[in-house]
Amino acid sequence: MSKAPNPFSTAAANASEEDIRTLVHTFYGRVREDDLIGPIFNAKVENWPEHLEKLCDFWSSVVLRTRRFQGRPMRAHLLIADQISGAHFDRWLDLFEATAKDVLPEGAAPVFIERARMIADSFEFGIATQRGEMVQPRHVKRAG
Ligand code: HEM
Repeated sequence: MSKAPNPFSTAAANASEEDIRTLVHTFYGRVREDDLIGPIFNAKVENWPEHLEKLCDFWSSVVLRTRRFQGRPMRAHLLIADQISGAHFDRWLDLFEATAKDVLPEGAAPVFIERARMIADSFEFGIATQRGEMVQPRHVKRAG
């Protein structure tokens, strides 16, 4: 019996581990230079080689389904929720999308971009919930 094709397989993504490496290193190189989001990363990340390694594992897990990243990334972002707003997410995605289009092979960028937008949304929802901007007001309104 043949298996259904995995939409997130290497073939679907048309990207290799080496491509992910180039993407992650180029992207965070640009992030560090960015006037809006650079300072947040530069203040928080103590060991850049380690951070980049982790992010290569993360993207390998997300796009190539290698399960190399075992962390829970929401937490890292909830911890800096007081420093990030919609403008920061927009800038992060602007830089990520431009870098993906610059460095990835033909056809691969849309897969990474789609995943990045979904994950950014989930972080933003998590942060809003923590701030009580979405979930808590509904509870409060419906209490009693
Ligand atoms: C406003 C946008 C964002 C900012 C300012 C931001 C900032 C950061 C910072 C400062 C860290 C390091 C935390 C630490 O070392 O203690 C981190 C970790 C991380 N970020 Fe982001 N981030 C943003 C968006 C995203 C998005 C959209 C993704 C994924 C698509 C992402 C994926 C990750 C991952 C996987 C980690 C590692 C988490 C861990 O250590 O478990 N980030 N981020």
